[in-house]
Amino acid sequence: MKIALGSDHAGFDLKQALKIHLEGQGHVVTDVGTHTTASCDYPDFAQAACQAVLAGTAERAILVCGTGIGISIAANKVPGIRCAVVYTPEVARLAREHNDAHAIAIGARFIAVHVAQTMVDAFLTATFEIRHQRRLDKIHAAEKPSC
Ligand code: RB5
Repeated sequence: MKIALGSDHAGFDLKQALKIHLEGQGHVVTDVGTHTTASCDYPDFAQAACQAVLAGTAERAILVCGTGIGISIAANKVPGIRCAVVYTPEVARLAREHNDAHAIAIGARFIAVHVAQTMVDAFLTATFEIRHQRRLDKIHAAEKPSC
């Protein structure tokens, strides 16, 4: 798959580890940064990764910050994007099966590398269950301007 990968400084080391993991499996990774451990702002990288998904240059986005929270909030502000903070492989799988998430966000300060790798694998191999479409339609409707 084509995967957009983004992080802030707090997520940099885990992002690099996930990049190696994904490329080792044959995925095509677009690393939107950050490219150093210098302090930076997670919304910039959430935006870049999600725009890659909307443009079709990536099928999924994987985002990393300290907690996973900030970068997920930023991703969910991109119209059309559904991003889930994930903390177990089962939750990562359900983010696809129930929520049709385009993106997952991982908290590098709280999640071990091997767990993050397993979560990413679960996210990328699961498929959406159409019985949940009605809820997604309501989320989409809430996104539209009311006037
Ligand atoms: C950066 O220190 C930290 O605030 C950020 O990575 C993230 O955890 C925010 O939600």
